[in-house]
Amino acid sequence: MRVLSFLFALALFATASAVPARQSSHRAVLESRHRLPAGWTKRGGLNKRGVVPVRINLRQNNLERSEELLMDVSDPESPNYGEHYTAKQVADLFAPSKESVETVKGWLREASVASHRVKYNHGQGSVTLNMTVAELGELLHAEYDIYEHDTGALHVACDSYSVPATVKDHVDFITPTLHFNVPLSKRDENAHSRASKAALIGQPGHSAVQPHQGAAVENIFTDLRNCSKQTTLDCLRALYKIDYEPVVKDKNGYGIVEYTPQAYVPSDLDLFFKNFSRGTIGYRPKLVSFDGGVVQNNQTGFDFSSESNLDLEYAIGLVHPAPVTLYQVGDLVEGASFNNFLDGIDSSFCGGDDPTQDGIYPDASNATGSYKGPEDCGTTKPTYIISTSYGSNEADTTPAYEERQCNEYMKLGMQGVTVLYSSGDNGVAGNGGNCTDPVTGALSPNATRFTPLFPGTCPWITSVGATQINPNSTVFDPEGACEQVIYSGGGFSDVFPMPEYQKTAVAKYFKDYNPPYTAKQYNNSQMTRGFPDISANGANYVVAINGNFSLVYGTSASSPVAGSIFTLINDARFARGLGPIGFINPVLYKNAWALNDITMGGNQGCGTPGFTAVPGWDPVTGLGTPNFEKLRGLFLSR
Ligand SMILES: *[C@@H]1O[C@H](CO)[C@@H](O)[C@H](O)[C@H]1NC(C)=O
Ligand SMILES: *[C@@H]1O[C@H](CO)[C@@H](O)[C@H](O)[C@H]1NC(C)=O
Ligand SMILES: *[C@@H]1O[C@H](CO)[C@@H](O)[C@H](O)[C@H]1NC(C)=O
Ligand SMILES: *[C@@H]1O[C@H](CO)[C@@H](O)[C@H](O)[C@H]1NC(C)=O
Ligand SMILES: *[C@@H]1O[C@H](CO)[C@@H](O)[C@H](O)[C@H]1NC(C)=O
Ligand SMILES: *[C@@H]1O[C@H](CO)[C@@H](O)[C@H](O)[C@H]1NC(C)=O
Ligand SMILES: *[C@@H]1O[C@H](CO)[C@@H](O)[C@H](O)[C@H]1NC(C)=O
Ligand SMILES: *[C@@H]1O[C@H](CO)[C@@H](O)[C@H](O)[C@H]1NC(C)=O
Ligand SMILES: *[C@@H]1O[C@H](CO)[C@@H](O)[C@H](O)[C@H]1NC(C)=O
Ligand SMILES: *[C@@H]1O[C@H](CO)[C@@H](O)[C@H](O)[C@H]1NC(C)=O
Repeated sequence: MRVLSFLFALALFATASAVPARQSSHRAVLESRHRLPAGWTKRGGLNKRGVVPVRINLRQNNLERSEELLMDVSDPESPNYGEHYTAKQVADLFAPSKESVETVKGWLREASVASHRVKYNHGQGSVTLNMTVAELGELLHAEYDIYEHDTGALHVACDSYSVPATVKDHVDFITPTLHFNVPLSKRDENAHSRASKAALIGQPGHSAVQPHQGAAVENIFTDLRNCSKQTTLDCLRALYKIDYEPVVKDKNGYGIVEYTPQAYVPSDLDLFFKNFSRGTIGYRPKLVSFDGGVVQNNQTGFDFSSESNLDLEYAIGLVHPAPVTLYQVGDLVEGASFNNFLDGIDSSFCGGDDPTQDGIYPDASNATGSYKGPEDCGTTKPTYIISTSYGSNEADTTPAYEERQCNEYMKLGMQGVTVLYSSGDNGVAGNGGNCTDPVTGALSPNATRFTPLFPGTCPWITSVGATQINPNSTVFDPEGACEQVIYSGGGFSDVFPMPEYQKTAVAKYFKDYNPPYTAKQYNNSQMTRGFPDISANGANYVVAINGNFSLVYGTSASSPVAGSIFTLINDARFARGLGPIGFINPVLYKNAWALNDITMGGNQGCGTPGFTAVPGWDPVTGLGTPNFEKLRGLFLSR
């Protein structure tokens, strides 16, 4: 009900008479859709005199140079390698041009919108104003309506909108318009029962890249020969040649991102530490709470604690005494999205949240646990390494929404921040094993088109897939792609073009191991982003959950483990007075020798065997798993 209450709560201060006659010539459609996402119906009955907050996201300056700018500081062969930017330098570099600001202001003036109603937000590159639905419909040549979701959630939206052709190149996208593909939950006055539902607004693939539960563990083997049955800290150290004691405490930092109500349980951390990491008993991550994020322990158990416990037990166990930061994002009522996290670490990203995807703070609900403080906006400087084990289907949000977010990862890379995401747990299928209907685009377990996961498909993050120690093998044998309980997410984007840094590796893959699928299954143009970039063990993790040890599977484990290794490498660099490693993909693709190539297994899904792990890069395990010793040598030589 959120948007409706918004509508009628606001004063009406514009009338239809101010709206000029339509000019249908020289218009450019900015976004449109041909079908409603599953679960939504057009309901009608919209009060066109209701007022909505309109946001026009201006085209950022220099965005077309983003790849060049990021490569300039990330490509090992660039003379400016490692010369990262400050946050302010980045914000200024991409602020919209004067021409864009003036063009949009001029357009609104011509549409008889009084200039005092229009606000330009410099740092955020946007123009905001309040408009009646009638005015907005005229401005965008759009038919607004009320859309109802199966859950009862109502939303004001349209199916298509356009701007004058002269304005098109100055605007990224406008809200409110199309964006509601992720089902909204009906607002519920009982915070706790609501929080127990998975599909919170904008919650990033909540049930998706979560660890899968296996059997409870009775006895923990300490013998490295048993690592094919149970993965422990010592197994990972042996697998990835991690023998290193961090020395830098102040500058370094490893950030783990969690979305409320998912939260760690302190006693579980200590249970884990007692058995595997006695030196960290009592250690807790530094809590950075965004938008009312709380480490809630009223609801625990696999659904509420497994992800956080897994991430923190292994991250702390591997990087201690390097400091670990927990970014706990979103309150108990609304939850949050990747955009809310990015707002928290970068004020220039704030203001672009989409109420259909992202948490909106302060929380308008009166439910217990709703966060009434201001939205967190650049509250904290980001840690140099950030790992997130959540993801959503690329098809769940619009390309414009994803591109805006992906550009932000590029900007973090320019500032020396390494961003890692799990690639997904369903092989070539999407969250929950859903695939895409090639004709309607609808998601279902029976559909046949592969369903890539975002942000794994954003070229400016490092996407981490999953491997396993093969049955009856040891840490001294080569791993295979994970084929127990979960399958490593991988494939090719339907949204993002292939970045320059992976072109050679991916071309070799297609030349030598062209997969047996057609354009019906995936974008086989060889022109879109392939993922994952790297991989790490994702099977049989021994994790303390709810006072017991469980076996957990998933790229949920792979990403924090890879992030731990890169945190140790940053430590080694800081100890020598060098800067952070930043965006690592260009270095890795040029130095695949520093990774263990994975050549066994595949990532089945959508009724197919999926792709196959082969020599060199592949869309199952990427370039392979980390070899800490080699990677350290590599990054210390830059
Ligand atoms: C829109 O209206 C709201 C509620 O009155 C107000 O808080 C906000 O500042 C207005 N926005 C603009 C851009 O005028
Ligand atoms: C954890 O360690 C304790 C003490 O060393 C031991 O008694 C216990 O069996 C271990 N837990 C498991 C599940 O093996
Ligand atoms: C651990 O590995 C050794 C060597 O392969 C084997 O003899 C032993 O049975 C294993 N232990 C368990 C509990 O599987
Ligand atoms: C947990 O429950 C207690 C008792 O019902 C309540 O006082 C507290 O606020 C709750 N905490 C959270 C984080 O929900
Ligand atoms: C919250 O409470 C206030 C004051 O009691 C009320 O005016 C408002 O409508 C309530 N909001 C919601 C979303 O229930
Ligand atoms: C899979 O798709 C179905 C049908 O669209 C949907 O109801 C379900 O929520 C999806 N599952 C996941 C995990 O996204
Ligand atoms: C998928 O196929 C199975 C078996 O043919 C069928 O039982 C099921 O209803 C189908 N599910 C959907 C969402 O179409
Ligand atoms: C692993 O070894 C056991 C015992 O030797 C054997 O029964 C099993 O088939 C082997 N599994 C594989 C995958 O080779
Ligand atoms: C595949 O990607 C290319 C490059 O972005 C694009 O031109 C083409 O239309 C895409 N193919 C399909 C079937 O979407
Ligand atoms: C832990 O597991 C044991 C054995 O499966 C069970 O008896 C015990 O109740 C569990 N403890 C908790 C806290 O769930």
